[in-house]
Amino acid sequence: MPVDLNNERPLAWDSATLDADTVAMLDNLQPNILRAHVREHLSVLFVRFNDVAAGRAFLRWVATTKMKSAREHLREVRDFAAGRRRGTPYVGLGISKAGYRDLGHSVQDVRKFGDPVFRDGMKRRIAEVNDPPVEAWERVYQREIHAVILIGDAEAEPVARLREEILGELPESARLLGEERGQGMRNPAGEGIEHFGYVDGRSQPLFLADEVGREPKEHWDPAFPLSNVLVPDPFAPDPSRHHGSYLVFRKLEQNVRAFKEIERDLADALGLSGVDRERAGAMLVGRFKDGTPLTLKPKPGGGTVVNDFTFDGDDGSKCPFSGHVRKTNPRSFGRNVIMARRGQTYGERTDDPWDDSPPENRPSGEVGLLFMAFNGSLLDQFQFTQQSWADNPDFEVEGTGHDPVIGQGNRDIKVTFPKAWGKPDKSAPQAQVAQTVTMKGGEYFFAPSLAYLRNL
Ligand code: HEM
Repeated sequence: MPVDLNNERPLAWDSATLDADTVAMLDNLQPNILRAHVREHLSVLFVRFNDVAAGRAFLRWVATTKMKSAREHLREVRDFAAGRRRGTPYVGLGISKAGYRDLGHSVQDVRKFGDPVFRDGMKRRIAEVNDPPVEAWERVYQREIHAVILIGDAEAEPVARLREEILGELPESARLLGEERGQGMRNPAGEGIEHFGYVDGRSQPLFLADEVGREPKEHWDPAFPLSNVLVPDPFAPDPSRHHGSYLVFRKLEQNVRAFKEIERDLADALGLSGVDRERAGAMLVGRFKDGTPLTLKPKPGGGTVVNDFTFDGDDGSKCPFSGHVRKTNPRSFGRNVIMARRGQTYGERTDDPWDDSPPENRPSGEVGLLFMAFNGSLLDQFQFTQQSWADNPDFEVEGTGHDPVIGQGNRDIKVTFPKAWGKPDKSAPQAQVAQTVTMKGGEYFFAPSLAYLRNL
């Protein structure tokens, strides 16, 4: 029996009664899709093949000698939590539509991928999401990327070693087009943060019974069926048991200095003082820096980073409709749009991203987010989020404005902000805050099943 991707019950992957098809699915699935893999240190390699046989042999070698399965990863996490040994590094692989062609799959074959966004590739989809023209992207992304190789670990050394080994095996006909280095950042509480200083990666669709079991679920149910991230791998020996996932990769540069100036100016414009000034940035993100949801509290604080909430009963006077987390997950509807976000921050900084240092001390470029997310459908998840929600100033409420963090396109309407938390008083209409996140390039990939890769 094929694995039922639409089953609403979270997967009890460790259960002794797990059926053989699901076991086969997990043994042939890449890690980091159903559950985030540690990738504090991350190397991202962009490769072009140019020779069918050599490209296939290389991928087969990577898959058989360097990659573990989702089930192995889950076992490692379980063993580590039980105080036993540390896990092994993550190696993940994605192939672009051009990559499949270069590996010898015909045009007709590539049509077996149901997702039109994947079949087009990122360069042909810039209009939909208001991306900058391809000529403005960094050079590596302007080129035809065939595959992305992700190498991640808690430590830098195993990543460096694996990177050398993998590049050493790259066939002469192939090219390393470029690479990115991700490096996790944490605040003093130990939470992962992005460059604007906010806790990131907290809200995720969860697929596994053990992960779902740890979450309170009074208001928001974090459990999602596997179909949210998995599709049958069309070229695998048995697509009913061998699955893959669509991976969106975007290099998003953050102008931290400009964002901090915007936070300061907004706090001034609303007359906020003391700890209340924190609310300015929180209105843009939808959470305070420490992760506290703005719809729940007017001030940060409270210990754990809460995710059991909705925006029900919040008419925008607590968390504006434009706030990043409200735009990208309104929670009371559009549940199936959410993606499994697996990005990592990039770029070196000499300042501490979480402290109160003035904007002048912040980087204005060269740092940002290597945005990555797994999707069951790029069309209905990533592209929809960016196009119909983040870039749409009228989403949910007319005239609410673009997503101030990631919205792209002309920000040419005037917007208002609540003057006091939960009160009807609004600020005078003002220009939307400037765009501080710039897309520098990217690509859509498919992360195939290990069964496909081992059989190349
Ligand atoms: C959540 C920042 C890009 C979609 C968040 C959070 C932060 C953040 C601070 C709150 C943490 C959490 O709830 O887990 C950023 C920054 C970005 C960026 C700085 C760019 C540099 C994107 C992009 C998308 C996206 C490109 C999709 C188009 C989401 C989603 C959530 C989220 C879906 C979770 C919302 C929820 O479920 O409550 N982001 N993000 N983000 N972001 Fe982003």
